[in-house]
Amino acid sequence: MQRLPIIIANWKLNGGTDLLCAAVASLNQQSFAAEVVICPPYLYLRELQNLLTKSEIKVGSQNISQFESGAYTGETSAQMIADAGIKFCLIGHSERREIFEENDDICHSKMQRAFASGITPVLCIGESLKQRESMLTEDVLSAQLNEGLANLDFNAADLCIAYEPVWAIGTGVAATPEMVQCVHAFIRQALVKVMGADLAQRTRILYGGSVNQGNAEQLLAAADIDGLLVGGASLDIQHFAAICAQAGQTEPVECA
Ligand code: PGA
Repeated sequence: MQRLPIIIANWKLNGGTDLLCAAVASLNQQSFAAEVVICPPYLYLRELQNLLTKSEIKVGSQNISQFESGAYTGETSAQMIADAGIKFCLIGHSERREIFEENDDICHSKMQRAFASGITPVLCIGESLKQRESMLTEDVLSAQLNEGLANLDFNAADLCIAYEPVWAIGTGVAATPEMVQCVHAFIRQALVKVMGADLAQRTRILYGGSVNQGNAEQLLAAADIDGLLVGGASLDIQHFAAICAQAGQTEPVECA
């Protein structure tokens, strides 16, 4: 079996109808050697999903609620996302962790909700610059993985991990492919302990942080980099399409 590369666009709090139209016009007819997912703001999820029904491009949510239902003003549940036909959601992006104070416990609840609703969660993990400089990268990632994935029922579940070093997000300073490969190999070993070798081999590990047209191909060529999470560069649809096209340049990685 092989791990199909996956390229995810994270529009964050950006874009509107114009970007939606540009994405549909440009990507609807295209076919990539990778799974391509766009995560727009909530308001546009359904519209984008409807506009892309004949396309291979998929739609993902940037977040889901940790709660199932009830008096939680402003929240959107995993089940609502699933009902809209959305197949992916990001969980624990560093901006959610930092700005909205989402800790590993909250991320864990969201992982449970995603699994229960049949959505593929993309658990985002990553160290700050201070943590990297203090040689704490592996400790931080282990804690985020162990707590975020604790006691989940992995049977029949699909999930991805996105390694996004906080210092590389939106800074224009991407981690090097060598650096990322090293961390991804560590993450895969950590996954073996949490979910067993078979599922760990199948789980796609994405890199995110200042990915662009110029560094995507080299990143994707590394053995354990199975995809990319693209922020700023995904707001330019032609640029994003060029990144997606590069995924086809590298052979999917063979799994044992
Ligand atoms: P960036 O963002 O590509 O703009 O660095 C990545 C992300 O936050 O997912």
